[in-house]
Amino acid sequence: MSSVTSTPAPKGLEGIVATNSSICYIDGDLGVLAYRGIDIHELARHSNFEETCYLLWFGRLPNQGQLKDLRERLAQERHLDPAIIQFLRNAPKTALPMDVLRTTVSALAFYDADEKNNDHDANVRKAIRLTSQIAMIVAAYDRIRKGKPVVDPDRSLSHAANFLLQLTGAKPSPTAERALDIALILHADHELNASTFAARVTAATLSDMHSAVTSAIGALKGPLHGGANEAVFRILEAIDRQKSDPIEYVRSMLAQKKKIPGFGHRVYHTEDPRATHLRAMSRDLGRSSGQPQWYEMSEKIEKLVKAEKKLNANVDFYSASTYHVLGIDEDLFTPVFAVSRISGWAAHVIEQLDDNRLIRPRAEYLGPDYPNPYVAMEKR
Ligand SMILES: CC(C)(COP(=O)(O)OP(=O)(O)OC[C@H]1O[C@@H](n2cnc3c(N)ncnc32)[C@H](O)[C@@H]1OP(=O)(O)O)[C@@H](O)C(=O)NCCC(=O)NCCS
Repeated sequence: MSSVTSTPAPKGLEGIVATNSSICYIDGDLGVLAYRGIDIHELARHSNFEETCYLLWFGRLPNQGQLKDLRERLAQERHLDPAIIQFLRNAPKTALPMDVLRTTVSALAFYDADEKNNDHDANVRKAIRLTSQIAMIVAAYDRIRKGKPVVDPDRSLSHAANFLLQLTGAKPSPTAERALDIALILHADHELNASTFAARVTAATLSDMHSAVTSAIGALKGPLHGGANEAVFRILEAIDRQKSDPIEYVRSMLAQKKKIPGFGHRVYHTEDPRATHLRAMSRDLGRSSGQPQWYEMSEKIEKLVKAEKKLNANVDFYSASTYHVLGIDEDLFTPVFAVSRISGWAAHVIEQLDDNRLIRPRAEYLGPDYPNPYVAMEKR
């Protein structure tokens, strides 16, 4: 008879290296994040979302011609099958945009000529297509649920500008376009975060890109992952509505042992480098749009949580106030995360399928000793 003597596995796979990858480098102690070795601070300052996509999918920065070509391919893919638009119209107007996105991305496979093709080039084509389509779905569903007409894409615009155009019906200002562009760069990839891991696990069964991205969207939705940005804004909104003192509000949450969304990270033990940029964007956009209160509240909360819990703000904390000031509804914050992260998910699916092996880890068994005899019903 064997007895259970094993040590439990680290909960939540903490610290476990689960794959080899050449896409994203993180040093959690030094607060370093780099895509293909290029520091996120350099990308946020100098790059744009399309160039970052190229970097993630092809492994290097593009030259001028390559970037132009990718921009054109992304623009050409700004098209949704009429059946998908009808699907969005049929969704309940009360449905969560994140749920609509998850289910619609799954449905996109019905109309994708490459659905069953898992070779490298087909996966790159699907990466490009899904990147354009996800942005369009998020914008179109928001218009439909508000009873507004779906806005035609403008193929001459950048990905960020076209998304804002299709969402709001108006061409964005250069400041708004650049702010969203930087946010998209910052959210594009983050190594084996929960949703990317989910995507890789699904892809590794030799399923397909659409299934992998659908899995990823389901994982991103949760408040411990991408759902945190919406949860942050719900707190800011409650403080504003109730005219509460942000310090007292959050102190009371801490006293009730509640987690404060937008703080803490499994990997970073110092400032999340993405938060550095989002903090500055939240401050600058808040001031220039005449809505400084969201940043001011956030800053107070950040100081308190840092002092009381020694926790740093993560990517989701200042993205909440940034997106709000950009005029994006709070239940679209997590879908907007997906508008960016599709680039990283796709890069990981491509990498996984280029050198695939089924992902099938083991569990440390801690249950009753084996053999545990089956007891007949009448003897229980
Ligand atoms: C991101 C997160 C899931 C990482 O979790 P993790 O590595 O599993 O860490 P744990 O949840 O085990 O937290 C470790 C300790 O810090 C505390 N802690 C972590 N994040 C906290 C937060 N945001 N607010 C308050 N306390 C927090 C936990 O309560 C726990 O305390 P304990 O040891 O006294 O029980 C976690 O920090 C969190 O839930 N943050 C809020 C949600 C969020 O912003 N998610 C987006 C991440 S980018």
